[in-house]
Amino acid sequence: MLQLHRHVQPGVAAHIPASTTLAPPPLVSWDDSVPYLALVISLTICIVVFLAVIGYVYLRYKRAEMSRQAYLMSHAAFLSRPTLDGLIDQTSGSGSGLPLLVQRTIAKQIQMDHSVGKGRYGEVWKAYWRGERVAVKVFFTTEEASWFRETEIYQTVLMRHDNILGFIAADIKGTGSWTQMLLITEYHEHGSLHDYLQMNVLETPSLLTLARSAASGICHLHTEIFGTKGKPAIAHRDVKSKNILVKRNGECAIADFGLAVRFISETNEIDIAPNTRVGTRRYMAPEVLDETIDTKFFDAFKMADIYSLGLVFWEMCRRCVTVGGLNKNYLEEEKYELPYYDMVPNDPSFDDMHQVVVIKKVRPAIPSRWQENTVLLHLAQIMQECWHENPGVRLTALRVKKSLCRLDETYANVKIV
Ligand SMILES: Nc1ncnc2c1ncn2[C@@H]1O[C@H](COP(=O)(O)OP(=O)(O)OP(=O)(O)O)[C@@H](O)[C@H]1O
Ligand SMILES: [Mg+2]
Repeated sequence: MLQLHRHVQPGVAAHIPASTTLAPPPLVSWDDSVPYLALVISLTICIVVFLAVIGYVYLRYKRAEMSRQAYLMSHAAFLSRPTLDGLIDQTSGSGSGLPLLVQRTIAKQIQMDHSVGKGRYGEVWKAYWRGERVAVKVFFTTEEASWFRETEIYQTVLMRHDNILGFIAADIKGTGSWTQMLLITEYHEHGSLHDYLQMNVLETPSLLTLARSAASGICHLHTEIFGTKGKPAIAHRDVKSKNILVKRNGECAIADFGLAVRFISETNEIDIAPNTRVGTRRYMAPEVLDETIDTKFFDAFKMADIYSLGLVFWEMCRRCVTVGGLNKNYLEEEKYELPYYDMVPNDPSFDDMHQVVVIKKVRPAIPSRWQENTVLLHLAQIMQECWHENPGVRLTALRVKKSLCRLDETYANVKIV
């Protein structure tokens, strides 16, 4: 192979036959590459600056977005973890109850704690909903009508009142062949007035608070509120110390509406509870016992409630201490007893009650010590006007409430010990 070695002088163009050698790379001078380099460098700088700006804007956007999300999350968490009071205030200012879906959700989230008592229609449990205490009444399977009625009454518009047990939710849990009916309400640690009076004696102000607030609850129930979003008049039909709860502030809350009736004034109709349940015999008014009550006349049910309320006042007054003795040197009160405790057996029959209340026309005794205490004397007068044989002359709940409010204002601070 022929090798061609030529010495090329600088500055002299050499002629190299195309057919015999490879073309050498073109010669680029330094002067030619400067603008190119400048272009590359400035382009690179532009790209870096552009990327830095984009990165900065992105980071700022991302940080803003993250803080917005954090805000939304905390807000959402707040919205999804409401308290019972918050929920009730938001959705049922009118007192018609929480939306059914909310009620069902609450019912599913309840944690039962322990049983606090058993009645004729169900068992009451202390339970928790998201850490808040609630009472859950589990109705016996045979008591569907009571559950239904009570739920219906609690859902009545404008039912909410300081002296009516606060309704939270109602639900039915079914497992095919077996159904559990629940009613969830506020929980009151003192339990029923019946429980409370056995464990505590009362001073005059606490007696007046209990009596006035119980009357207030019954009065709210009995009162019809007119208007499109009004409230019908409601009669309880099972007023007794076991169906009244004692709140932490010493006031009463009326409970247990499984037997209540409502009066629809537009149609002049009484929506009688469609169950066979009857009230508690011991507290039944004479007209209920002798079945002369005119069930077409709504006020008749209110008058029967007032009779029972009179008996409850008697239970309260027995536990109010007064100073006794010739030298006023000791305190006295009566032992807790149910009305007619000394006249009828435990769980009295209709006949037992009829004999005492209708035939013999006996009423609970007014102890002589009450005569010496203005408040007890006033209350004795009120209860006697409540349990009068003639329903028409009994006081109305409004009258009782007003009298007790006046007494409460006067004697609210009169302490005995
Ligand atoms: N909301 C509540 N908070 C605290 N304790 C309650 C509450 N509701 C009921 N209880 C307790 O549970 C007990 C049982 O109540 P329940 O209404 O089932 O029966 P009762 O009123 O005692 O009898 P009855 O069946 O004749 O009405 C009450 O006596 C009371 O001690
Ligand atoms: Mg009860």
